[in-house]
Amino acid sequence: MTTKDKKEIIEKIQKLKKEKNAIVLAHCYQNVEIDEVADFVGDSLYLSQQAAKTDADIIVFAGVYFMAETAKILSPDKKVLLPRLEAGCQMADMINLQQIREFKSKHPNIPVVCYVNSTAEVKSESDICCTSANAVKVVKSMNVPKVLFVPDTYLGTYVGEQLKDVEVITYPGYCPTHLRIRPEDILERKKQYPDAEVLVHPECHKEVVKLADFVGSTTGIMKRAKESSAKTFIIVTELGVVERLERDFPDKKFVLVSPKAVCANMKWIHLEDILNSLEAEQHEIDVDPELAKRAYAPIEKMVGINS
Ligand code: 13P
Ligand code: SF4
Repeated sequence: MTTKDKKEIIEKIQKLKKEKNAIVLAHCYQNVEIDEVADFVGDSLYLSQQAAKTDADIIVFAGVYFMAETAKILSPDKKVLLPRLEAGCQMADMINLQQIREFKSKHPNIPVVCYVNSTAEVKSESDICCTSANAVKVVKSMNVPKVLFVPDTYLGTYVGEQLKDVEVITYPGYCPTHLRIRPEDILERKKQYPDAEVLVHPECHKEVVKLADFVGSTTGIMKRAKESSAKTFIIVTELGVVERLERDFPDKKFVLVSPKAVCANMKWIHLEDILNSLEAEQHEIDVDPELAKRAYAPIEKMVGINS
C-alpha cells in the first residue's frame, strides 16, 4: 500500500466513524497501523471497560473473537463488528461447554474464575471473569480458600503463587503464542543485554515468569517500560507491544524476546478490513440473548471490581 492509499483509507474510516457514530477499539497485539484509526488502544480489561461505557452506536473491535463477543455481551444494544471473522483465539477454543461442566463436576462446589479469553458458553458457567491485568485482585476479592481457574493454566498458576492462602486448581489450557517463549530465549537475550529489565506476560510458562523483573498484562508492561529508569527492556510478550513501545519511547531500547512471539490471530486485521467492516457494517457479532444474560454477570462483576 502506498502512503497515499493509506492516507485515503484512514480519511474514509474517520469520516464513516463520524457518520455512523462508531468507535474502533484496538488490542495492543494488533498490527500497529490500526492505532491510526483507533479511539482506544489497550489490553483486554481496558477495552472491555470502554465497550461497557461507550455511547457509540457501533463498536468495531480490532482484536479477536472473544473480545468482540465480550463487548456485545456488555453492550447488547450496540452493533459490534469484528473486521475479520478468522481472528479466533486458540486458548479460548481449548475449553467448551461440556469440558467446563466436566471440570466443575470433578471439583464440585468450588467457585469458577474464568479468564476473559474464553467463549460466552464458558463464561456463562463461571462465577467471575478476570483478565491478566486483574486476575490476582479478582481471586483475592472472592475471599475463598479454593478456586477453579479456566482456561489458562499458566495465568492460574501465577495467581496461586501470588496468593499463598488460596488454592488455584487450573484447567490445562494455554496460549500457544506465549508458550513458544522458552527460558533459554530470555537467557540468550540477557547475554546480549545484561542491563536490560525483563518484562513478562503471565500467560508465559512458569519457568519463564521466574526470570522476570516485572510481570504484567500488555498495558501493565507498557506502563512499566514508560516509568522505569532502565534504558533497555526485554519484552516477553507479543510483537505488537514492542512495536508500540518503539514508536512511543524512541529513546529507549526494546528487544522482542523471540521472533516466535507473534500471534497470527491478532494479525488478520488491516486498515482495509476496518474500512470494509464499517462500510458494509460487517461482520456483526451476535450472542444468543439468553446466553448473553448468563455470561453478563461474571463479566460485569469483573468490570465492576475495577471501575
Ligand atoms: P491482556 O490483554 O490481558 O494483556 O491479554 C493478552 C492476550 O493474550 C490477549 O489475547
Ligand atoms: Fe489467544 Fe494467545 Fe493470541 Fe491472545 S495471544 S489471542 S491468548 S492465542
